[in-house]
Amino acid sequence: MKNIYLLPGDGIGQEIMAEAVKVLDWMQSRGLVSLRMSEGLIGGTAYDRTGTPLPEATVSAAKSADAVLLGAVGGTQWEALDYSVRPERGLLGIRKALDLYCNLRPAQVFPQLANASTLKPEVVSGIDIMVVRELSSGIYFGEPRGVETLPDGRQKGLNSLVYYTDEIQRVARRAFEIARKRQKRLCSVDKANVLECTELWRKTVIAMAPDYPDVALSHMYVDNAAMQLIRNPRQFDVILTTNMFGDILSDEASMLTGSIGMLPSASLGDQSALYEPIHGSAPDIAGQGVANPLAMILSVAMMFRYTLDQPALAERIERAVHLVLDAGVRTADIWEPGMTKVGTAAMGDAVVAALTA
Ligand code: IPM
Ligand code: MG
Repeated sequence: MKNIYLLPGDGIGQEIMAEAVKVLDWMQSRGLVSLRMSEGLIGGTAYDRTGTPLPEATVSAAKSADAVLLGAVGGTQWEALDYSVRPERGLLGIRKALDLYCNLRPAQVFPQLANASTLKPEVVSGIDIMVVRELSSGIYFGEPRGVETLPDGRQKGLNSLVYYTDEIQRVARRAFEIARKRQKRLCSVDKANVLECTELWRKTVIAMAPDYPDVALSHMYVDNAAMQLIRNPRQFDVILTTNMFGDILSDEASMLTGSIGMLPSASLGDQSALYEPIHGSAPDIAGQGVANPLAMILSVAMMFRYTLDQPALAERIERAVHLVLDAGVRTADIWEPGMTKVGTAAMGDAVVAALTA
């Protein structure tokens, strides 16, 4: 029996989580897994009900769960709140509390959607990139930080990019190991020509390379990496990078695939794991039943692979998604003329039906 803790969060988070649960219920009803699911609060919804975007109860339930499934956080109604209680603080807080240092963001082109990318199909077809983003340190968490008013009346805003060698090593180790199971090419992305902290990043990764002689290690400055990702994305297999560079490059990589609504992620620590789509809460379409639940459902597949150790069930979910796309079923974000446009719930139902196929 595995404990799965559901944190739907805000905006479309609620709607897409319901579709993920349909998949889990199906697995349960077939006796393929034994799960206990419970649900908690995070983000703006948690703030409204409890005064904080990350209640203590959420942290302790997440810590004791085998895996956390998260929808999305944030929304325009909370944008005016003080920084310390914004919904995003809930997300950053849970990543830190669970020490989720390794964020896996796969960017794969679904052949059925090759036309959905703004780039030419011949550039994006066949791409299969794994972005390994450091998630619990770096400039997102470095101290000192903040905004202070100086005696002369000017204000000073400050954030610190800080990495310790052990923080670099533990995420780099994961990246080397993942590369080993793929095409054995690892590109570490930094800004070592300008930022000392990322020069340390590069040197630390280089020092580890002898342990992985079968992996071809390369290095790229982040500005060049941003360019190469749209110039020739197929050159990449595994990309290893810092928290902020990974945030930016993974959004860029997602657009190669046509829609950010398709991409799942896994955030792994040594004790905990959290799975979430890489897209946000999409306040503009929240509550309308039109959001694409596939990134959320594919995040469930990642949970089967990395936490439940059931790769066959992970593949079954991924295959179901392919079958649905083959059949021309599309939510609005990936729709093109001639396809069948469906809403969130109908897309979830279609995936569940395809699981049986
Ligand atoms: C992401 C998001 C978050 C981040 C935000 C919502 C805090 O953009 O998961 O990529 O910056 O990490
Ligand atoms: Mg982001």
